[in-house]
Amino acid sequence: KLEAVIFDLDGVITDTAEYHYLAWKELAEELGLPFDRAKNERLKGVSRMESLEIVLEDSERSYTAEEKAELAKRKNASYKRMIEHITPADLLPGIRELLMSLQEQGIAVGLASASHNAPFILERLGASSWFQAVADPGSARKGKPDPEIFLLAAEMLGADPANCIGVEDAEAGIAAIRAAGMKAVGIGSAAQLGAADLLLASTAELSLDKLQQLMA
Ligand code: G6P
Ligand code: MG
Repeated sequence: KLEAVIFDLDGVITDTAEYHYLAWKELAEELGLPFDRAKNERLKGVSRMESLEIVLEDSERSYTAEEKAELAKRKNASYKRMIEHITPADLLPGIRELLMSLQEQGIAVGLASASHNAPFILERLGASSWFQAVADPGSARKGKPDPEIFLLAAEMLGADPANCIGVEDAEAGIAAIRAAGMKAVGIGSAAQLGAADLLLASTAELSLDKLQQLMA
């Protein structure tokens, strides 16, 4: 029986995955480094500092820890300027309806995002009250594909991972959900998310019915 649905944020609840892409691209261009959407796929679900390492991997020079901290801060500042303008209209298609039916059915809802900006974004979306648990990425020692953050959210909800579904748009995220012993719903294409138990092209295709069938 379905006890809880645990969502990723960026690219699932709202299209901030695009803002992360734009902010990293801006930084890479300033540094004269190549950056494209293919490379960006590897950044999805990955923490800020780990993402920076991937952005810098083609660099001929090396950066000190202080320089890396400054670059990460610069990327986050430009990202924060973009997310300031988020409104409830930026919920991805079908998400409001799904969150409402989960609430009606008494199915718990949690967030498992690696983003330190997640609470601010949920506020901007007017979505905070739908989430009974928001796992703090600061308390997860290991990032996705490690299952830790999904397990943390399940624990906060008092749910058995075997009765949970995770929803993700990133390859590392699908791996994390499966390693947590949960059923994985992927939003995107088979090229990245082939390991998902259920693959949907867009959040518009999500429904409580499909989630319940996945558990049956
Ligand atoms: C999510 C996104 C990543 C982002 C990470 C950290 O996992 O998919 O693209 O790098 O969160 O986000 P933050 O807002 O803390 O930099
Ligand atoms: Mg994501």
